[in-house]
Amino acid sequence: MTTLTAEQITRENVAAACQLAVEPHQKDFVAPVAVSLAEAYTQPEVAWPRLILRDGEPVAFVMGAFDPDAEFDFFRCGIWRLNVGAGVQGRGYGRFAVETVLAEARRRGQRTATVLWLPAEGGPEDFYLKLGFRPTGQTHHGEVVGRIDL
Ligand SMILES: CC(C)(COP(=O)(O)OP(=O)(O)OC[C@H]1O[C@@H](n2cnc3c(N)ncnc32)[C@H](O)[C@@H]1OP(=O)(O)O)[C@@H](O)C(=O)NCCC(=O)NCCS
Repeated sequence: MTTLTAEQITRENVAAACQLAVEPHQKDFVAPVAVSLAEAYTQPEVAWPRLILRDGEPVAFVMGAFDPDAEFDFFRCGIWRLNVGAGVQGRGYGRFAVETVLAEARRRGQRTATVLWLPAEGGPEDFYLKLGFRPTGQTHHGEVVGRIDL
């Protein structure tokens, strides 16, 4: 049986996390993991990065954002980054990663969570719609804002 876990980034797994890369044609849709971790370093009180492991092997990276004081409502609680490794997509790891952040949001007493996506061919829009996110009607730098009730 396959076991999926979500781990904090540590000195032991940070290099493996940085090696996770999406498919080449998906690179416009998400920042590289190393960039996300650099941003997390500068905003440790906001960023909530986790490495998703399948039986101990890294398969995905997700970073939540929890910033109750953010100017824009869609930056207060949600998915900031999500990278499922090339070659291991379509196996439920993305869904597990999103659920991990949503569980943390519920634990913090949040009632809704958001995500922003680029509305383009080959992008993650249908994935987020399938998981229950719905466009709010807002956009930010060309990205669609989606929200889900928790
Ligand atoms: C989008 C992404 C996160 C999806 O992760 P994944 O592990 O392949 O998705 P899952 O296997 O968990 O899929 C969950 C469900 O969504 C569906 N799904 C996944 N990607 C989809 C897509 N592009 N279009 C339509 N449905 C999709 C799956 O079929 C599955 O449905 P099911 O439960 O009925 O079987 C992954 O493709 C990825 O990392 N893309 C590149 C980076 C990116 O776009 N990140 C998001 C930035 S906002």
